[in-house]
Amino acid sequence: MSPTAIAANTTARAPDDHLAPVYAQFALDIVDASGVHLHTRDGRRVLDLYGGHAVAALGYGHPRWLAALETQARSLLFQSNAVPLDVLVRAATRLTRFAGLGLDTVFFANTGAEANENALKLALKSTGRRKVVAIEGSFHGRTAAAGAVTWGAASKWYGFPQTPFDVEFVPRGDLAAIARVVADDTATVIVEPVQGVAGAVDLGAAFLSALRARCNETGALLIFDEVQCGMGRTGQPFAANLYGVTPDLLTTAKALGAGFPCAALLLSAPLAAQLKTDDLGTTFGGGPLACAMVEAVVDIIESENLLDNVRRLSAQMRETCIVGPVVAMQGAGFLAGLRTRRPARDVQRELLARDILTGTSGDPHVVRILAPFVLDTSHIAQLAATLAALPS
Ligand SMILES: Cc1ncc(COP(=O)(O)O)c(C=O)c1O
Repeated sequence: MSPTAIAANTTARAPDDHLAPVYAQFALDIVDASGVHLHTRDGRRVLDLYGGHAVAALGYGHPRWLAALETQARSLLFQSNAVPLDVLVRAATRLTRFAGLGLDTVFFANTGAEANENALKLALKSTGRRKVVAIEGSFHGRTAAAGAVTWGAASKWYGFPQTPFDVEFVPRGDLAAIARVVADDTATVIVEPVQGVAGAVDLGAAFLSALRARCNETGALLIFDEVQCGMGRTGQPFAANLYGVTPDLLTTAKALGAGFPCAALLLSAPLAAQLKTDDLGTTFGGGPLACAMVEAVVDIIESENLLDNVRRLSAQMRETCIVGPVVAMQGAGFLAGLRTRRPARDVQRELLARDILTGTSGDPHVVRILAPFVLDTSHIAQLAATLAALPS
């Protein structure tokens, strides 16, 4: 997450709190949360439509999520990947079936950036090429490789003296640029099918299909970064399902553990077949607790029909929330952008003053909604009524 994306409406931190001063923070003093509400020290109950950067997909204190955490913690808190465990196999099986994309091998990691780092490494190694193509507006994480393919990182925060490979960016929606930039020397193209930090920018089926086709022509591998848009957020398991475009590698995190930190890299059969012992590794990735939570999250999403809920409520949002300062909506499902006539940070501040937490984005006129999948119609109605009462 880029600090600039949430820099609006923040409060100054105490100079002696011993924390690295790298985060802008909301002016919100949260003590606890339950369901889809945050509770503040001064007694406010705030509807959370931002979900901790898209993590809290099941809201707070979901009973089955808590039960899975406790059961696994009591049974086996941790073991390394050096021992075979059923819970790891169950999580990988459940996740690949949920995806239904034929990407049936999983490498579990800890963060979105780490999953992307490993995806890029595999793609470069597998093709033996050294150029990576990314999309303007992208955000892929803070590590050396993930930051190298993040739009604007070099001028803002990258910090490494050079990128680990050559990088070229394609403008969003520019089909001619795909044909020009993705070439026989391209190892891989990495893309967020719906860009998150950029402001819920839906790249659409035509652009994603053109990337797929050009990768096929040139022998480049296609990586979908679904760290933010995946795991049901668009109303489908992954945006790949939504657009009918299957990548060779897919990364996901955030909602994957719905609050338990974990990430996953899903691989096509040909890529999985190239892997051998020691090619990838991590201490914490794919630990039993993380895997129990992945299994539980998929189970809850499926058994509570939450994809359907996201589709219904995001349609309600589109129908009712283009009011007050909002002139249009963009994005997909619960990765939604409310395009505002006035600066987004002003609208976000006014919503927060009326007990609704939303996010901003790289676009100064987009308020970002990353709502929990367990929302109900009354919450969308509350958002619509609150927006309608704001100055346009
Ligand atoms: C699309 C995308 N990729 C990667 C990342 C990085 O994930 P993490 O912060 O878990 O490393 C993010 C974080 O916001 C993201 O939105």
